[in-house]
Amino acid sequence: MTDILPNSLAQVADLALLISAQNKRFLVRLAPDARLETHRGILYHNDLIGLPWGSRVQSHLGSPFVLLQPSLSDLLLETRRNTQIMYPKDIGFILVTMGIGPGLHVVEAGTGSGAFTGALAYMVGPQGHVTSYEVRPEMQRLAQKNLERIGLSDRVTFKLQDILPGFDERNVDALFLDLPGPEDYIAQARQALKPGGFFGSLLPTANQVSRLLIALKRENFAFIDVCEIMLRYYKPVPERFRPTDRMVAHTGFLIFARAVALEDLELSSPAAEEDAGEENADG
Ligand SMILES: C[S@@+](CC[C@H](N)C(=O)[O-])C[C@H]1O[C@@H](n2cnc3c(N)ncnc32)[C@H](O)[C@@H]1O
Repeated sequence: MTDILPNSLAQVADLALLISAQNKRFLVRLAPDARLETHRGILYHNDLIGLPWGSRVQSHLGSPFVLLQPSLSDLLLETRRNTQIMYPKDIGFILVTMGIGPGLHVVEAGTGSGAFTGALAYMVGPQGHVTSYEVRPEMQRLAQKNLERIGLSDRVTFKLQDILPGFDERNVDALFLDLPGPEDYIAQARQALKPGGFFGSLLPTANQVSRLLIALKRENFAFIDVCEIMLRYYKPVPERFRPTDRMVAHTGFLIFARAVALEDLELSSPAAEEDAGEENADG
């Protein structure tokens, strides 16, 4: 496993991001005598190894590049994809809300291209583990390659299995579903989660959310929350500071819940609680 935490100098086996003056990005793993061929000329890894991160470097044709350590967001955007992948704006909020951190065991389905798998593997650290289910072999292979590329595959167990019969794991800290029809797998999720464990899902359309809410309530999940993350970028130009012309308007609804022993209690999240007055007014 390669350390992708910040060091001050680029070293052999580090992941490096090279960005050209035209904003083209290249993610490479630094290796002695290796070379990166770009549309603006060749960069020799030997010239990069030992340089401080943030250095300006140039190709054999004299074209400038900047040498950077990739952030988790940079790594995720580099994911080679065959499915709709999850966006950093959603991933960041999901990780925080579901308490994903070092040493945890997290289960997810489906693996897809592995963008979210990469984020989970990054967050659980070397002591934690991710188990990721997928039914399509070609998707699993792509995700495995993506995880190998960012040096995190040894934190993940990839399972080529349909989750309909259930998960093999028990007492997991958190479980995330990013696949069609998550309402069909809520009893299975409940069995796999530890008491108090976190459930999360992402769904593109509102009617799918309604079906999932019914299933979560049926399986006695508590603290259910539904939200959506809207991210707007601004042009960082002091004299013309304003929003950028375009934004990604909708990626998906995020649904969160916790597996607790409910019996006759109905527990809502603080966000849902704040809205209780309005709900009463709605009848
Ligand atoms: C939207 S993609 C997941 C994308 C992934 N989160 C990412 O960030 O790259 C959904 C995946 O779920 C898989 N899938 C669908 N039904 C499944 C099931 N019952 N069990 C396991 N995987 C399933 C699909 O093959 C597909 O690759």
